[in-house]
Amino acid sequence: MINTIIKQTNMLYKSCCRLFLLFAAVAFTLNTNAQKNASTEAKINALIKKMTLEEKVNMIHASSFFTSGGVSRLGIPKLVLSDGPHAVRSDTGTYLPVGTCLAATWNPKLGYEFGSVLGSEANFHGKDVILGPGINIIRSPLNGRNFEYESEDPYLVSRMVVGYINGVQDQGISACVKHFAVNNMETNRFNVNVNLTERALREIYLPGFKAAVTEANVNTLMGSYNKVRGQWASQNSYLLNQILKKEWGFKGFVMSDWGAVHNTIEAIWNGCDLEMGTDLNQRPHRDYSKFFMGDTVVNLVRSGRIDESVINEKVRRILYVMFKTNMIDGVRKKGESNTKAHQQTALKVAEEGIVLLKNDNKILPLSSSVKTIAVIGFNAERKQAMGGGSSQAKAFYEVTPIEGLRNAGGNKINITYNQGYKIERGATADDLLIMQAAEAASKADVAIVVGGWTHGFNYSVWSDNAYDAEGYDKPDMHMPFGQDELIKAVLKANPKTVVVLMGGGPIDMTQWINNVPAILQAWYPGMEGGNALAKIIFGQVNPSGKLPMTFPKILEDAPSQKLGITSKDLMQLYYTDDIYVGYRYFDTYKVEPQFAFGHGLSYTTFEYSNLKIQAGKKNTTITFTLKNTGSVPGAEVAQVYVKQEKSTLPRPEKELKAFEKIFLQPGDSKLVKIVLDENAFHYYNDIENKWVMENGVYDIMIGASSRKIKLNGKVKL
Ligand code: BGC
Repeated sequence: MINTIIKQTNMLYKSCCRLFLLFAAVAFTLNTNAQKNASTEAKINALIKKMTLEEKVNMIHASSFFTSGGVSRLGIPKLVLSDGPHAVRSDTGTYLPVGTCLAATWNPKLGYEFGSVLGSEANFHGKDVILGPGINIIRSPLNGRNFEYESEDPYLVSRMVVGYINGVQDQGISACVKHFAVNNMETNRFNVNVNLTERALREIYLPGFKAAVTEANVNTLMGSYNKVRGQWASQNSYLLNQILKKEWGFKGFVMSDWGAVHNTIEAIWNGCDLEMGTDLNQRPHRDYSKFFMGDTVVNLVRSGRIDESVINEKVRRILYVMFKTNMIDGVRKKGESNTKAHQQTALKVAEEGIVLLKNDNKILPLSSSVKTIAVIGFNAERKQAMGGGSSQAKAFYEVTPIEGLRNAGGNKINITYNQGYKIERGATADDLLIMQAAEAASKADVAIVVGGWTHGFNYSVWSDNAYDAEGYDKPDMHMPFGQDELIKAVLKANPKTVVVLMGGGPIDMTQWINNVPAILQAWYPGMEGGNALAKIIFGQVNPSGKLPMTFPKILEDAPSQKLGITSKDLMQLYYTDDIYVGYRYFDTYKVEPQFAFGHGLSYTTFEYSNLKIQAGKKNTTITFTLKNTGSVPGAEVAQVYVKQEKSTLPRPEKELKAFEKIFLQPGDSKLVKIVLDENAFHYYNDIENKWVMENGVYDIMIGASSRKIKLNGKVKL
């Protein structure tokens, strides 16, 4: 008895000691952080005190195309910026897959690895800020810049963006989340005024940015080119001062997009902290002091029209980021460029991001009896890295699809190549090229057509091949360059045809989809893309990508076309599609898509079972079992959608509120546990102007896509 009491007393003593040590450690960390913050603040104050007005103003505008002004006498460096978002643009290095491919992995851990590569290479090349991630919502299939962005769904964007930013910033480099906000088209991006409801703004277009600020503490943010409700976004008081800085507590600095500042007073008052890229028409030499936020600001302060404290606040934000990233008073990481590990990240993202859209009769992976393959299509041998506009990448190398297939096939498989079509805007089907391609297909065991969209190389003019490109939207969703005719002829010659589509988003497949047994969506898959594709085609990798956007059958089905007004000539754009973006529209209005949001096939099969839902005081806990019932290892993205049965304001048929990517060996199963907090159930009531959570019954749907719901349950809150 006494022994037991002594034992228990000892245990209690040990636990108390542990608890004490834990408290002490937490208190110490908090204290050290507080001290560090206080001393940084003191240093910032001291520097600002020493600066002349001219020196301060010099810091809030560019000093070259990609630098801001520094104050060398006080040891304040220039900021060196580089695009983004899937490579360090200015230098030769790792070329990662584009944003849509990253989002298609539905793997936030890969987002982190992706960001780490960029951060590390930025360090290596002496950059301070990476101009990425780009996270504008994919609203219309035509947006020329969709490839750079991530998804139509704000929740998926939020999860991926936090990983990316943490990855970059853990390397001591600043990320720059862009383009804030509602910049969802390229044609007319410089002169369009977007009108939208507060609800659409809050529920669809802002959550990704909010997560970047409140969860990932992003250091910098870029305002966009367009106007929002009548005021330019890069000098928009409601977006920058009210929402970003006041509501979300953003501590870093706002830079304008290149040339997005239009006048001094609005930019200064409305929250822009750094003006970049203004075109002064002063070639070849620019006088940067003539920027809107240059000499004019000095005059306005001197004449008493602007208080110097407003300028101090901007300088303070820039200095805060400089101290945070060890640009002043600190040691920076050295970083590495284009290492094997970085290339492996590029490969992994491509392997997990390429989506198997269709696979009739399990034609993929190709069986070992396949001895000859006819590869057809310009995209099979086209390098894409330098396309797209400001996101172009100087790839150290780029494995094209044909190279990847040859690497994987070795000398066991005979691979032929035919171009099949010419890349030329407006080009119609080329009969000779089609005939040659069909002939090659007829002699092969399998034909693989690699086509789809292309990147443009020159984004300052509407170049012949600029489909996925900054500055211009696609004119329609039809396959360019006569590819429909090509695919139909190849199919006729050999029904065993696989179509691989490159591009930032959907393309009209209606002319041939019913006859093609297998389709892969490959996006622009980066420097290792060809290898990733070949590994999927030959079955060394089991595809696990899922669409981060809905693929409509035809353009006319897309809500932004039907409900919004996107005419090229209209400067007033009304988002009458409101919150019904992507699957929120297709599922609510019961329009059959070609491929649903979240869709993606695997070489194995998964079984969902045993759904249990438990409502707690704060959280709702969901559990279910996922089993790999096939014969190869694979990963499934289990998606949790929520629907409120009866709400005061109309709500979509379903909304993604959680997901998990689960890797399983054949025969293995996992009990998946997902906890939903209040955010999963609320919506923005723009009559009351606040987020509300209403009591009532909510449907919980667990699916393999937004249209393939495997388990249904309900919870009463
Ligand atoms: C783009 C930005 C880019 C900047 C600098 C602008 O035209 O919109 O995304 O970061 O140029 O290249």
